[in-house]
Amino acid sequence: MKILSVVGARPNFMKIAPFIRAIEKYNKSIPTTHIVSNISGINEPPPIPHSSVLTPVEHILVHTGQHYDDSMSKAFFEDLNIPEADINLGIGSGTHAEQVGLTMIAFEKVLKEEKPDWVVVVGDVNATLACSVTAKKEWIKVCHIEAGLRSGDLTMPEEINRLVTDRLSDLLLAPDIISIQNLKAEGVPDSRIRFVGNIMIDTLEANRKKAKAMEVGEIVGRMGRVRRGGDGKIERCADCERGRWGEGRRYAVVTLHRPSNVDAAETFAPIVDFLADEVAGELTVLWPVHPRTKKKLTEFGLFEKVSDHKNIILMEPLGYFDMLRLNMGATVMLTDSGGLQEECTVLGTPCLTLRNNTERPVTLQEHGGASVLVGNSIDAIRKTFRAALAAERVPVRPELWDGKTAERCLEAILGYQA
Ligand code: UD1
Repeated sequence: MKILSVVGARPNFMKIAPFIRAIEKYNKSIPTTHIVSNISGINEPPPIPHSSVLTPVEHILVHTGQHYDDSMSKAFFEDLNIPEADINLGIGSGTHAEQVGLTMIAFEKVLKEEKPDWVVVVGDVNATLACSVTAKKEWIKVCHIEAGLRSGDLTMPEEINRLVTDRLSDLLLAPDIISIQNLKAEGVPDSRIRFVGNIMIDTLEANRKKAKAMEVGEIVGRMGRVRRGGDGKIERCADCERGRWGEGRRYAVVTLHRPSNVDAAETFAPIVDFLADEVAGELTVLWPVHPRTKKKLTEFGLFEKVSDHKNIILMEPLGYFDMLRLNMGATVMLTDSGGLQEECTVLGTPCLTLRNNTERPVTLQEHGGASVLVGNSIDAIRKTFRAALAAERVPVRPELWDGKTAERCLEAILGYQA
């Protein structure tokens, strides 16, 4: 069987790493006498009943290149031991239509050349949409890992990507019960749905020990940045006062990149003021800055306010281990990321989600998780922030978020019958 899987942007990488590992493990588990050779006369297995013939999986990894900076892409491949992509489409930045259109054009050529049995897509980024549509038009079966998430908010490009991908996919691998209910409510037959758990938690569990052994101060010294000069350029702060990190220092981690929070000055400026004037008054703020957000901070004249603040440490986008370690020790997380809501739930970090809705309700406090939706209203953020300062860490593990999801994903594909 030939499986071609696709990654495009940062949140895809931690989802594909365990899937690749599961394929490697499966291939190693096949007794060599059972491998069906294509070359007549070589490795010819003894005749065995058809049902017990095991064929190795041939795997091709395609990177669309939507995220291309080393810190957004290469660092994750290295940290998570993902083999270099077999094919990189080099799509890069652009409008949504440009990213999706260029990916479809390039991916169609790949499919015609490689002729896989399955295309596996993960998550909800533009690559997920572009590649599932292209594969279906080439009559190739599509499997969507992380199916059934719904925010109900069609102003989010990711929601459009989720809806289209799930509508087209042959096999929908769902991370939680709520997602399964969503799919059923849309009329998806049971035969296309499998409950497999959350594949991102496979990566978290596989790397938890290594992250735990890291020192927060070392990460701050290595990744923290200060502004020098008036050109908005930020440089390393290993030699600066802020790089010296005392044991037990309380800190908040901030990540923001959604257009709904950062693209308009009238929304983003009050958030920045709150972070600088109130959050940083209580705790040190560690803020790894997404490229989109960095551009907007500069464009809106907000950059100096945060870069010159004595209790805010701006950081380059972090690698997987650095972020996991910071999350493990944070007093509170303020984020608009989807994946961090899930990681906070499993780690027990109180999480303020700066969005009005979430496609991951299982992570919300009312469903037992760690996250509270605070939108971008400063009153709501303030109230929840105060509560979080006093909150205990309560790790929660939704059903099947057990570190074994990737194996269930592969089993579902191998056992699929149309
Ligand atoms: C994408 C995903 C989003 C995910 C996020 C995580 C979609 C629709 N959105 O949003 O779901 O949460 O990634 O990071 O696919 N840029 C760089 N270097 C890079 C990548 C991007 O400078 O390596 C710049 C681009 O020029 C662009 C901006 O960052 O101006 C946004 O990048 P883009 O890929 O369009 O979407 P994200 O906002 O990252």
